[in-house]
Amino acid sequence: MQTCITDSAEEAARILNAGKIVAFPTETVYGLGAGIDFPEAVEGLFRAKGRPSDNPLIVHVSSVEQVEMAAARVTTDARRLMEGFFPGPLTIVFPKSPRVRHSVTAGLETVGIRCPRHPVARLFLSRCCCPVAAPSANRSGRPSATTWEAVREDLDGRIDAILKGEPSRIGLESTIVDCTGPHPVMLRAGAVSLEELQSIVASTTAARPLEEGETPKSPGLKYPHYAPEAEIIPIEKGDMPSPEGRAAYIGTAPPPRGMAFVEQCIDLETYARSLFHFFRECDRRAISTIYCELPPTAGIGRALLDRIKRAAGHK
Ligand code: TXA
Ligand code: MG
Repeated sequence: MQTCITDSAEEAARILNAGKIVAFPTETVYGLGAGIDFPEAVEGLFRAKGRPSDNPLIVHVSSVEQVEMAAARVTTDARRLMEGFFPGPLTIVFPKSPRVRHSVTAGLETVGIRCPRHPVARLFLSRCCCPVAAPSANRSGRPSATTWEAVREDLDGRIDAILKGEPSRIGLESTIVDCTGPHPVMLRAGAVSLEELQSIVASTTAARPLEEGETPKSPGLKYPHYAPEAEIIPIEKGDMPSPEGRAAYIGTAPPPRGMAFVEQCIDLETYARSLFHFFRECDRRAISTIYCELPPTAGIGRALLDRIKRAAGHK
């Protein structure tokens, strides 16, 4: 299959509306989209990514009004969170409407819905003939793609089109909050922090850590994620390990000595934005060990810490 690379949101939407698979930029990470009314394209998404079919997809909409196409019910709490954070880097889990097929939700009766803020994403989604199911645009198990070149690296020849855009501004996937229970529960940390969610709905909690063998509410969280080839070693800020092999470092503090590749970030936002791109760059440079400074757990730091721990946990 030939992958068309375009910077026209209209052209990309025309391709999707013909039942095809199109990657597109968002402010979190790039998404790999198929219209929810095109079951074959949705199946094709799982194949293109090599994604297990029990891992549900997030449905993307261009406006708050479109949420009603995919959600069966919107609770008061969900409405308030939507008013606070849509469009933006937040996914809300609702009871699903009948229009959303089980192939999108991996059999669940709930659906995660996100309305991105990115202007190119919004233009693209507004030209699509239905809401768009989209996982992150990476091969399963790889770090999420934060540039169109990273999408091409993973998926060239496996998808129909890539809508080009700038590198993703946030660089980590959206916060996921489940609004199907008695009070909102944050299932995945992201750029919308727990504190921000609580400032709108005070009863919001973070999902407690899983017990051994327990199934997570967010099925994707059981899979290895965000992982480069190298071994990831989290270190405290300012620690100076003695590197073995070809080592790399990313963090805000000055790097330890003896690193083959270094990224010192001016703040936590830059660290978050750079992480996945850095992981991919480390693979290209055949790095064997990556030292990641442990961020504080406030604000975006919680999401960053989560991704670093997941990447460290896969080996
Ligand atoms: O920022 C993002 O969220 C990006 C962009 C493209 O929007 N998307 C993304 O999708 O990260 P993906 O498929 O890589 O991660 C989606 C996560 C998975 O862990 C999945 O299990 C969870 O969302 N999820 C999807 N639907 C769900 C649902 N109904 N209930 C609980 N978790 C759900
Ligand atoms: Mg993903």
